[in-house]
Amino acid sequence: MRRKVIAGNWKMNMLPNEAINFIQQLEPLVKDTKNEVILCVPFTDLFYALLHVQGTNIKIGAQNMHWEEKGAFTGEVSAQMLKSIGTEYVIIGHSERRQYFAETDETVNKKVKSALSVGLKPIICIGETLDQRESGKTESIVTNQIEKALEGIESKNLENIIIAYEPIWAIGTGKTATKEEANETIAQIRKKISELYGQNEADGVIIQYGGSVKSSNAKELFEMSDIDGGLVGGASLKADEFAKIVNYDK
Ligand code: PGA
Repeated sequence: MRRKVIAGNWKMNMLPNEAINFIQQLEPLVKDTKNEVILCVPFTDLFYALLHVQGTNIKIGAQNMHWEEKGAFTGEVSAQMLKSIGTEYVIIGHSERRQYFAETDETVNKKVKSALSVGLKPIICIGETLDQRESGKTESIVTNQIEKALEGIESKNLENIIIAYEPIWAIGTGKTATKEEANETIAQIRKKISELYGQNEADGVIIQYGGSVKSSNAKELFEMSDIDGGLVGGASLKADEFAKIVNYDK
């Protein structure tokens, strides 16, 4: 049985004092869950968040990184920098970064390799646009994205990788993929992983759904056979709402 992983993606929200308050509110609400709980926070919140989750079951991730170890890359943060303060996860290839910051399948692949090389666990985002879905290209788009993201990655690393299937048309729009649509596409991604690495590996890899997940739809989505939890944007900004999503099975 795969575990369920519920990750919040705060995007460019939350000042350090807000992050600390949030963690203090969330901690008692999720302390008894058997699901994995992750908060992916802005760089400026990382250190505070890491201090305040000590001794709790909440894990912390960043939202981006550079693939080089160090050097003349003004404004960038390396995998080693994130790891050195105790960060456990990093989102790579979010559609907002692909759309606004020139992230490509190639840079995603370089970042995934760099993160794994220092023991940072990537949450790799893939997903199709509305046009692509409507023209029947979803499967070819997402399987191509995942194949490129994982190029040159050995199977032993798969247990440290999370994949987030996020249809772009469902992000921040209030429009959720139906549980059947989400499950079908995630099963296609899993099939691609079985072609690349074998059935055992594919059966073990965590694949989340993301895109307008909220407490009112989390249960029906996360109970589907291939959906292993969610990457949650807007609904991860309120501790009580996020806790309800984490506790969807209670
Ligand atoms: P949303 O964002 O839940 O606000 O749609 C999800 C994401 O971008 O990861």
